Amino acid sequence: MGRDVIIACDFDSKEKTLAFLDKFEGKKPFVKIGMELYYSAGPEIVREIKARGHKIFLDLKLHDIPNTVKKSMAVLKNLDVDMTNLHAAGTKNMMKAALEGLTRDDGTHPLLIAVTQLTSTDQESMENDLLIKEPIDKVVMHYAKCAEESGLDGVVCSPLEAQKVHDTCGKNFVTVTPGVRFADGDKGDQKRVMTPAQAKEIGSDYIVVGRPITAAEDPVAAYERCVREFVD
Ligand code: C5P
Repeated sequence: MGRDVIIACDFDSKEKTLAFLDKFEGKKPFVKIGMELYYSAGPEIVREIKARGHKIFLDLKLHDIPNTVKKSMAVLKNLDVDMTNLHAAGTKNMMKAALEGLTRDDGTHPLLIAVTQLTSTDQESMENDLLIKEPIDKVVMHYAKCAEESGLDGVVCSPLEAQKVHDTCGKNFVTVTPGVRFADGDKGDQKRVMTPAQAKEIGSDYIVVGRPITAAEDPVAAYERCVREFVD
């Protein structure tokens, strides 16, 4: 497992996505396909991007009863993505079932990553809406530990949590961190951000970068800057 930059391809059509990827010519960045693109372009867009030689993180955040998640993961397995995810709030039974569904005949599986508490959830909304009264960082670490005990490969977390996740779950437990911005860039709606260099420093394994690349005047140059700061 190596450090890598994952581009969040948050587009609403196949055409826009492929036009964006065409700019990269010979390069094959790791791409994230989320709900917006998947719900508009379906499994076909996954197959097409895979056939072009990109690694894919399919970010669909499954959360349902264990049997449904297991069977859905068994379908996603056939798309041959490199990474996919679910909500740890679905419980350990759901996470274990998901892993079973995703596991290929040869015993291997794409990286399976858990979402702990979404970064859009704060202490107040967690207490008032979810009736969870513990401090949010303790809840995040507990969910990460549950994911690790269920056999999952890692978690999506804020770059600020990555180090603690590694301390709690081991250095091989993968941390995938969005909320990355260039030091001289626009934060957009992300509140707690880190630069690619800081994310490297605190030990993130993968950074997920959307608008700093997709909305850049020169997306290829922005991607290369991320790689220089985070990977090299
Ligand atoms: O454009 P930006 O760099 O903010 O994109 C970040 C990507 O990471 C988006 O696809 C967003 O949905 C995703 N994400 C996030 N925070 C989380 C989980 C996923 O920003 N906690």
